[in-house]
Amino acid sequence: MSDKDFPVFIQTAFPQQPELDRWQQISREEADLVYAMTLRNELSGGTPVVREFEKRWRDWCGLEYSITTMNGSSALYCAYFGLGVGPGDEVICPAYTWICTIAPALFLGARPVFADSDPETLQLDPEDVKRKITPRTKAIVAVHLWGNVCDMDRLMAVSHATGVPVLEDCSHAHGARYGQRIVGSIGHVAAWSLQGSKPVSAGEGGVLATNDAGIFERACLAGQVNRIGGLDLVTKTYAYLQPLGLGMKFRAHPLGIGIAGIQLAKLDALNRSRKAYVEAVEEKIDGIPGLRSVKVYPKAERGGYYAFPIIHQPNASSRVPTATLIECFRRQGLAASSSPYPLLHRLPLFAKGFDLFTDQRGPLCGDYPGYRQGDFPAIENVFDRLIFLPMLSNPVPGAVDRISEMVAAAMDKAYSR
Ligand SMILES: Cc1ncc(COP(=O)(O)O)c(C=O)c1O
Repeated sequence: MSDKDFPVFIQTAFPQQPELDRWQQISREEADLVYAMTLRNELSGGTPVVREFEKRWRDWCGLEYSITTMNGSSALYCAYFGLGVGPGDEVICPAYTWICTIAPALFLGARPVFADSDPETLQLDPEDVKRKITPRTKAIVAVHLWGNVCDMDRLMAVSHATGVPVLEDCSHAHGARYGQRIVGSIGHVAAWSLQGSKPVSAGEGGVLATNDAGIFERACLAGQVNRIGGLDLVTKTYAYLQPLGLGMKFRAHPLGIGIAGIQLAKLDALNRSRKAYVEAVEEKIDGIPGLRSVKVYPKAERGGYYAFPIIHQPNASSRVPTATLIECFRRQGLAASSSPYPLLHRLPLFAKGFDLFTDQRGPLCGDYPGYRQGDFPAIENVFDRLIFLPMLSNPVPGAVDRISEMVAAAMDKAYSR
């Protein structure tokens, strides 16, 4: 086999509709910093660049403690560990999220308990969360999906009423707000992915932040082996375990964090530009029968804008399958697609279960009931009608008109057949 036979897998962000978007995620500035850091051999550990980034991150989100990790999945793992999630526990998370939201909890031995989502906003439904709470529930995961924001007032009310803490997965929603607060600063602990397609990218990286010293210290113990100079434990509780902590290593690569530091400085401008584009396209979409935009809760301000879903709403008399409509969009030249993520309960892993630790041990076997179609009617109903439009970050003049013309032409074609 030659190299040509292998698919190239690059997962950093490139314009999704290149002829309409001038954006370039990485500039000379990131390259210069990486060059300088490399010459300084600043390539491992809690280096000055890493420590400075962590300080800026906590100042930015208004939290007291933060630590970087090698990716968002490990930030989530450390957050779960910080919350004390372990064997026999249950973690409630939306059925509609990326698998990495919940996978780290499995590896700690906890069972995922999926909940439905609000079909208007695509965010976790607090009422269903309430129904799913049991004496074993150890955490609720609020995922701010696609850059939209969960109904944090209602989720925090469930948390206060039950004593179950909330972990915010902000991987898609860097800089989104709820009320006056940046998302991630509302629950008990938060994790952000800094993976290459994210609004603030380290290539591969993650960050965790919290106001809770106990959660923070356990999170550090879980993955920051030998990083004593940057760890700054705030209490004496685990001093006797330093500098090795629990011996596990999820530390971030300093070069990635250097890149993310430069990206963080560009986030406000990126969010302003994506917001203007998304809102302008949504206004046009809402004027086209058969399509509508995804709603936003009154206190929420989207951020990050990881993707741009809209909803196909066929009328009863002329039903065009959404997959056919997406084909029509693509024939017009529009980079449209169905949901990039599956519903988790439809995956064989969660539908059937899996012998995670072999010999019938682990959270997905034994009395694990599995899942079936129909378990999450609200999100199932809307999921198959989602259409993802290209996200433009620095649109060329006239891009919004061009996008809406392509959408309108595709709708005409699809519905006049
Ligand atoms: C919602 C969500 N959570 C967690 C992750 C995991 O982040 P990472 O890929 O950096 O491990 C991702 C990554 O795409 C994500 O989209």
